Amino acid sequence: MGMKMDIELIDKNGLRIDGRKPEELRPIKIEAGVLKRADGSAYVEWGKNKILAAVYGPREAHPRHLQKSNKAIVQVRYNMAPFSVGDRKRPGPDRRSVEISKITSEALEHVVMTELFPRSSIDVFIEVLQANAGTRCAGLTAASVALADAGIPMKDLVVGVASGKVDDVVVLDLGKEEDNYGQADVPMGYIPRTGEIVLLQMDGDMTQEELFKAMEMSMDAAKYIYGLQKEALRKRYEMIAREETEEIEGVQ
Ligand code: CDP
Repeated sequence: MGMKMDIELIDKNGLRIDGRKPEELRPIKIEAGVLKRADGSAYVEWGKNKILAAVYGPREAHPRHLQKSNKAIVQVRYNMAPFSVGDRKRPGPDRRSVEISKITSEALEHVVMTELFPRSSIDVFIEVLQANAGTRCAGLTAASVALADAGIPMKDLVVGVASGKVDDVVVLDLGKEEDNYGQADVPMGYIPRTGEIVLLQMDGDMTQEELFKAMEMSMDAAKYIYGLQKEALRKRYEMIAREETEEIEGVQ
């Protein structure tokens, strides 16, 4: 962010490097229930990002000193595969992934009904298979669907989406070049139905007016993404229902 380069991010027609309009998202696909062994899972393709989320639990929290007597904890591990970025990423946690895991956990603890599962842990694994800017938002969006797929009681789904500023223009959902050479990036975790913001970060600089405009763009986009999340879950439930019907018919 903020690396000043002679690279044109907005062309003379007001379009972005990948041809998008300022308020346009990259294409997003969400699928629920993609892993057999996890209690819940989701796969998200968001532009060139490819992200898997897997959920286990609630199960007894280990080590025991992590247990909370009145509620469950939501433990998140955000991890980038070595092959997910241009230069092979060294395996294992680094400062960035520890930070993203923490903020994702805090965002999810706002929606999971943790008070129903004292002393338990709900474990969320976010695996970034391919990264192209905006992975924390795509990861949060995927994790939220994976939790619902695991049947974990939640107040609502959270959507992660970013907006920011490039070439003095407020834009939605920054791509890789925009993230590298743009002026600001504002990832947000948002619950469209209640209007609650459960994550907000800002990298770079903007005026208050620009920030509010960026947030509006993110909130509008979040409503659309929320629709995709619900559609993915609906398809998943339909599939489970069909499988169960086939099983019953099979024994007759
Ligand atoms: O992914 P997100 O935008 O949430 O986080 P970031 O720290 O702003 O990273 C932006 C992008 O930089 C990532 O999505 C990756 O494409 C890239 N990146 C990388 O190439 N190598 C890393 N070790 C970390 C990030």
